[in-house]
Amino acid sequence: MNILITGATSGIGQQLARDYAAAGHHVVACGRNEQALATLHNEYPEHIAGQPLDIADADATQRALSTYTNIDLVILAAGVCEYLDVEHFDAALFQRVFDVNVIGTMRCVEALLPQLSKGSTLVLVGSTARLLPFTRAEAYGASKAAVHYIAASLRIDLAKRGIEVLHVSPGFVETPMTAQNDFEMPMQVSVETASKAIRRGIAKGTFDITFPRLFGLILKFASRLPQRWQQAFSRRLS
Ligand SMILES: NC(=O)c1ccc[n+]([C@@H]2O[C@H](COP(=O)([O-])OP(=O)(O)OC[C@H]3O[C@@H](n4cnc5c(N)ncnc54)[C@H](OP(=O)(O)O)[C@@H]3O)[C@@H](O)[C@H]2O)c1
Repeated sequence: MNILITGATSGIGQQLARDYAAAGHHVVACGRNEQALATLHNEYPEHIAGQPLDIADADATQRALSTYTNIDLVILAAGVCEYLDVEHFDAALFQRVFDVNVIGTMRCVEALLPQLSKGSTLVLVGSTARLLPFTRAEAYGASKAAVHYIAASLRIDLAKRGIEVLHVSPGFVETPMTAQNDFEMPMQVSVETASKAIRRGIAKGTFDITFPRLFGLILKFASRLPQRWQQAFSRRLS
């Protein structure tokens, strides 16, 4: 398969790039960190090509991604997380998070969609954070709720073109993103485990690839409780 991955310079996306390359697939690895792109290419010179990409830059994203044809699988994993300090409410924080997680991801879809053909798969990486109102996660959780909604709607609209849309809801994964967290992260998994769960879910065509399974089941159950119970549940976690 020809696979294009954003967020391939770190964490989950990087592990996916390595694992797909090791399995013999051809990967276009995207991100801003050119050193990390070069390292990936040097590890798998036949199987990974680096594509410098800043998805916060609309024109550059269009220029970089619209040249790719014959892509079978697109995984849009680039993302950022910033937590809100409610005592210093900062609307610009929402703008930064949404500009990468939501608008930036849609910039990639806009640039790639015309070249995607019947039988291809588009995967948007969200988060289980979308399921419950976690403390300080106003911007991040809302951005990931938007990504999930977009994936579910796109799945309907792109089915007509034979393009399958999938969504990923990771729990806590050990990456540079979570290394900044100063709170307990229950059931955290390694990037290797995350990559395996995502690749398996994509191979099966699961719409919402949620892992670890038990963590996802607990949050999905909690998300169906009345709002005041959800609030109590989240307060206990914080
Ligand atoms: N780790 C978790 O526990 C967890 C849980 C749920 C969901 N997720 C989601 O999984 C995805 C990957 O997260 P991760 O934990 O692997 O994070 P990470 O290690 O911090 O990696 C984030 C990736 O996003 C890329 N990125 C950020 N801003 C970008 C921009 N403006 N343009 C292009 N690329 C950009 C980074 O590349 P450059 O810096 O090179 O540009 C990097 O490759 C994210 O969407 C995240 O929200 C993670």
